[in-house]
Amino acid sequence: MRTPAYVADVGAIRKNLERAADIKKRAGCKMLLATKAFAFPALFPMMREYLDGTTASGLYEAQMGADHFGKEIHVYAPAYTDAELEGLAKLTDHIYFNSPSQLDRFLPRIKDKKIGIRINPEFSVSTVGGDLYNPCAPCSRFGTRKDELDALPWEHIHTLHAHVLCESRTHVGTVGLLDTLDTNFGQYVKRVKAVNLGGGHFFNDAGFDIEPMITRIKAFREKYGVEVVLEPGGTLVYNAGYLVTSVIDIHKNGDTKIAILDSSVSCHMPDVIETNFEFTPDIAGATRDLNNKTYPHHYLMGGKTCMTGDFIPTAYGFKAPLKTGDKIIFTDQMQYSFVKDTTFNGTPLPDMAILHEDGRYEVVQTFGYADFLRRVGG
Ligand SMILES: Cc1ncc(COP(=O)(O)O)c(C=O)c1O
Repeated sequence: MRTPAYVADVGAIRKNLERAADIKKRAGCKMLLATKAFAFPALFPMMREYLDGTTASGLYEAQMGADHFGKEIHVYAPAYTDAELEGLAKLTDHIYFNSPSQLDRFLPRIKDKKIGIRINPEFSVSTVGGDLYNPCAPCSRFGTRKDELDALPWEHIHTLHAHVLCESRTHVGTVGLLDTLDTNFGQYVKRVKAVNLGGGHFFNDAGFDIEPMITRIKAFREKYGVEVVLEPGGTLVYNAGYLVTSVIDIHKNGDTKIAILDSSVSCHMPDVIETNFEFTPDIAGATRDLNNKTYPHHYLMGGKTCMTGDFIPTAYGFKAPLKTGDKIIFTDQMQYSFVKDTTFNGTPLPDMAILHEDGRYEVVQTFGYADFLRRVGG
């Protein structure tokens, strides 16, 4: 196979979706794919069997949801431009606003839409990246705080939206959010028809007990008579795909050996650097436990760009010495990877590929010089 390539593992994605469908069915809630985490239209026909639609971060993702996924399309952004709102009004029935001022501005222009307001409930569970991904961090620009809610035009508001979790790996985040809404925002929940609990419910993690989550969603729905919507992204494709790269040289710096790859941490796995290596991925067939004597050959993984920091600073252990041409398979590379990649240094973008359940390998998109040139105005 040609490298580098992002490879979606359909069997693993289906397992994640089956758990999502089980939650949906037993909790009686809706579930949308947040396409910001995984914009992979070639797999939307299969995902559509399990989910109720997509949630977009703006016009382009909404257009992609309409063209390739269908079903419901929801959208939220911290603010919309006039042109964006005009386009969105043609594509989607569910538009969430971030602030009283955006509502004020756009409400008169949109008719017959399910309008939502995002709130900042000042409760959050964010397990990675410090405050980098914490929607309720101090000075957060996300959501309207409680002191501004009374003045909203509630007769026009269909959905209360609260996205406050990031990789919340136990039920405590989801349950805590519902408890917070129940205790502190009950008077507003009573005025709407639906509550959207955002994403970050990391229910495909082995440590996540879905039973208390299901029980709490059901109790909340029944108490308020509202529809409950979840819009996860990452967990739906968690541990369900790879970035496959090749070693193109072994560089020595004193005792340190660095495998130079035909890919880049900075361009192709940007969250790894963004989270200060909290998201360091595993490599199939290697270990990060350098005391493991079965894997005595230790290497750092280096990207092919000019940026000094374009490498993973903790070594991996391999059973045999690495050599040029060896494949390196980084795991869990579907969420927030290719949606954020760049062509810095003219680095080629990886192929987009699918590993089908029958073992077939299918490349669905390749990129070349023309893609790079267009991005820089050529
Ligand atoms: C508004 C909103 N909804 C859903 C998501 C998806 O979250 P996750 O991929 O962590 O499940 C995000 C992530 O940033 C978000 O901002």
